[in-house]
Amino acid sequence: MTINTFMTGEHRRCDENFANLESVIDSGDFENAKKVFEEFKNDMLTHFKQEESVMFAEFNSCSGGGCNPTSVMLAEHDQIRITLDQIKTALENSDKNRALGLCENLLFIMQQHNMKEEQIMYNLADNTLDSDDIIEKMKLVS
Ligand SMILES: [Fe+2]
Ligand SMILES: [Fe+2]
Repeated sequence: MTINTFMTGEHRRCDENFANLESVIDSGDFENAKKVFEEFKNDMLTHFKQEESVMFAEFNSCSGGGCNPTSVMLAEHDQIRITLDQIKTALENSDKNRALGLCENLLFIMQQHNMKEEQIMYNLADNTLDSDDIIEKMKLVS
């Protein structure tokens, strides 16, 4: 399996969880929305950890730190983490409109980010790293 296939599968899973989160928020059931949000967030943060602590780390040491194509990805992860915190606060305040508006922002950032990874980053990783080894290490991240 390639890194691209493995990680693209994770992106699709996150997309499905996100669609579910949006509909639960829309239903106005905030207790349930908070639970669904926590699961979605934990899943997403684990995915980031897989990328940051395994793939990007390996990639940086391999590219000798000369040019760093992962810095844009890291900045976007930070932006997504901030937006996740804002959604959490909106849910705690039972503010449906704010939560849904923030979800729209999150979807936009996520789509751009995932597209860059799937079209550029993951292929670059597959071409320069030991894909099987990276996938095994990423599976161990929790
Ligand atoms: Fe990422
Ligand atoms: Fe990703």
